This record gives sequence, structure tokens and C-alpha cells, in this order.
Amino acid sequence: MSKILITGGLGYVGSHTCLLLLEKGFEVIAYDLLLNSEIKTFHEIKALIRKINPNLVKKFTFVKGDIRDEKLLSEVFLRNKINGVIHFAGLKSVERSVDDPLQYWDFNVKGTINLLNVMEINNCKNIVFSSSATVYGESKKKLLDEQTLLNPRNPYGDSKLAIEKILTNLSSSHNDWRVAILRYFNPGGAHDSGKLGESLKFKSENLLPKICDVAAKKIEKLFVYGRSWPTKDGTCLRDYIHVMDLAEAHLSAYEYLTINENFFIFNVGTGIGTTVLELIRIFEDTNECEIPFEFFEKRSGDVSRLVADNKLITEKLNWRAKRNIDEICKSCWNFYKKSSENI
Ligand code: NAD
Ligand code: WQD
Repeated sequence: MSKILITGGLGYVGSHTCLLLLEKGFEVIAYDLLLNSEIKTFHEIKALIRKINPNLVKKFTFVKGDIRDEKLLSEVFLRNKINGVIHFAGLKSVERSVDDPLQYWDFNVKGTINLLNVMEINNCKNIVFSSSATVYGESKKKLLDEQTLLNPRNPYGDSKLAIEKILTNLSSSHNDWRVAILRYFNPGGAHDSGKLGESLKFKSENLLPKICDVAAKKIEKLFVYGRSWPTKDGTCLRDYIHVMDLAEAHLSAYEYLTINENFFIFNVGTGIGTTVLELIRIFEDTNECEIPFEFFEKRSGDVSRLVADNKLITEKLNWRAKRNIDEICKSCWNFYKKSSENI
């Protein structure tokens, strides 16, 4: 069975993907600097996998390391016969990327170039890369397909697009490279166990973590950024995708990539848009709580709508999201409550 290196494997999306791959019998090495994640996630994944099948626990290892550290990465490749990489490691805050663009180019772009060099030297040429719908920017299209004009509006998005271009160049010049680029829309939700989710230890400006903070009365009310967007209720429309559906898309993409086309880009979204006001109501209904909010000015860099045209991934990978927005809200709050008890 394949051995996969998962960079950023203890982060939000990475941890759910590690668990799924282990369940499917892959050997997994999570490589993570623990900048936006915690070592306890490694133990949580082991505990969850032990319940499924105790024999699988030994298939999971963790290396604390930086993707920019060529020496350490090379050692990991020398010690293991790695068949492929799922590359999550990177920085993801839009706001911080505006304050410190150099850091984003360093971590995201330089880090990826380093990883690709080490992979090439070690003859490991299968990679699935986490890109983002943020590469699209504002568009007139209702549903964004993969051909939509690319126009990121912040250094974080620029760094993702730069990596996409590097990977595109690499696979056009060397057809032994097999590259899958996944552009995810808005990930949300958590594992059903309530043991894995988006860590509360690190500050997030995203909507779902903020709604949870309000539900937990950590903050008094939610500020809704703008009420005059060109959408049905004047608030922004997003395509929220459950993190376990996203993990499943990585598994399908990896399997497809190793036997089919050697380069592809897929949107990973549900194709269904939810406005900020709708999300607040759904969260309140599914979790029987109240989310007080107040309208605030538009957040700089926001776009009115980001909803996926997911035809391509559905056709090629036979992947589709199985979990709906209610399940996203429910599992996200379940994880939040359980983690708050342990803080
Ligand atoms: P996350 O911050 O939870 O996970 C990223 C992990 O990478 C963290 O555990 C962090 O410690 C690690 N890391 C950061 N820099 C590193 C480095 N130099 N070397 C080794 N490890 C490093 O983020 P996430 O939400 O799981 O996102 C995973 C990937 O998906 C990121 O590349 C992100 O840009 C992309 N993405 C995320 C979203 C989202 O909203 N969550 C949306 C689209 C794309
Ligand atoms: C969603 C909507 C806000 C907070 C970001 C990144 C994107 C991707 C996913 C990594 C927007 C509104 C939010 C709040 C609000 N990440 N909002 N009050 O901006 O769609 O996407 O995360 O790749 O690159 O840009 O997600 O969750 O921040 O916002 O009204 O306190 O909620 O204006 O319309 P966004 P978000």
C-alpha cells in the first residue's frame, strides 16, 4: 500500500485527510511545523484510528518540520519510500498576508519550491496541492468553473496562484510528474467524533469560527460585513464545503492522478451558495442557539459571491459532497463545545 507524506497534516483539513487515508489503509507521515496546529491532534488521530483497527496505528507517524528545511525533508524521503505528497502546509490568513506579504511568499511559494526539489531528487512525483477559490476574485458568473478568469485580490491568493503556475510549468515540461490542484471553496464543519476540527487555539477571522465564538458568548455579537451586496439578501454568498467531503476529494484526486491524467485542476465545492444571513439562521436552528449580529461596513477585499461549478470533479472523479450545510453547522459547534471543555 502507498506511503503518503501529508505536509500540514496536523492542520484543519490535513488532520481529517490523514484520518481518512489511514482508514483506507495508506501509510501516512504527517509533516508539520505546528504553527497553526497542535501535537494533540496527532494523538487524537491515533486514538480514532485505534478504535477502527488497532493494527493501523503503526502506519501513522509524525515529523515536526518546516517544508523550507531541505535537510530534514530530504532525510524523511531517504528514510521512507514515499509514493506521493498531499501538500497542505502553508499560511492561510488573508489579513496577515496583506500585512506581511514576504512571509506568505516565503512560506507558501519558497516552501513549495523546496518541497518539489526534494521530491524530484527522490523520484517522488505525485502531488495533490491545496489551492483556493480565492484565486478567482470577483466574477460575473453565478457559478465559477475552472476556466474562470484568475484574479486574486490579496498576497495570499497571489501565492496560491504562483504555486499553481509552478506546478503547471513542471507538469508541462516533465510528463512523469503527476499533479492535482484542488481549489477549495469555504471549508467548514468537523469530524463526527468532535475530536478533530479547526483548532480553537489559533485566531480565525472566518465566519464559522466567529459564529461559534458568538454562540459560546465569547464575543457579544457577530459583525456582518455589508448588507448591500448584489445577492438575494444583500449579504455575501459562499459555497461551504464539509471538511470530510474535502478529505474525500483528496483521496479521490490522489487515486485518479496515479492512474489517469497527469495534470488537472478541480474546484471542490457543493455548487450551492449560502448567504451570511442564511448561515446564521441555519446555525441557530440546527444548534438551538441565538447568534446576535449587527451590520457592519464591507470588509476590504471581499467579493459578493463564490460558488463552485463542480461539474468537472463530479464527472471525472465521481466525487460529490455528501454532507449539507446543516451538518457543517452541527459538527462545527459540536467540535467547538467539546474543545472548549478541554481548554
Ligand atoms: P491550517 O492552518 O489548519 O493547516 C496548515 C498546516 O500547515 C498547519 O498545521 C501549520 O502548522 C502547517 N504549516 C504552516 N507552515 C508550514 C511550514 N512551513 N512547514 C510545515 N508545516 C507548516 O490550514 P487548513 O485550513 O488546514 O488549510 C490547509 C491548506 O488548504 C492551506 O494550504 C490553505 O491555504 C488551503 N486552503 C484552506 C482553506 C480554508 O479556508 N481552510 C480554503 C482554501 C484553501
Ligand atoms: C465568509 C463571508 C465575509 C466574518 C476566506 C479566504 C479564502 C479561503 C476561505 C483559504 C464573507 C463574512 C466573515 C465575520 C462576516 N481560505 N463574514 N463576518 O472570505 O469567503 O474566504 O476563507 O484559502 O481564501 O478569503 O471566508 O469565512 O472569512 O467569510 O460577515 O466576522 O462571511 O464578509 O462574506 P471568505 P470567511
